[in-house]
Amino acid sequence: MKENYTVCFCMKVDYNDIADALEGHTKFEDVLSLFDVVQSVTHCSTGCGSCHDKVLGVISEIMMG
Ligand code: FES
Repeated sequence: MKENYTVCFCMKVDYNDIADALEGHTKFEDVLSLFDVVQSVTHCSTGCGSCHDKVLGVISEIMMG
């Protein structure tokens, strides 16, 4: 298990929250549509927005194993 860390400070969304939001999503075709999924569950990146690229990076990392 990877060490957990905060990805979005405004909404207090951490790595595990993003992993949980991606649960059940096994296909990695479009990182932006997965971003929408993650955002609708966790509300990440709805504050200052500076974590946007970080969230995309975490999604890619999780989906690629
Ligand atoms: S750190 Fe994620 S919206 Fe500000």
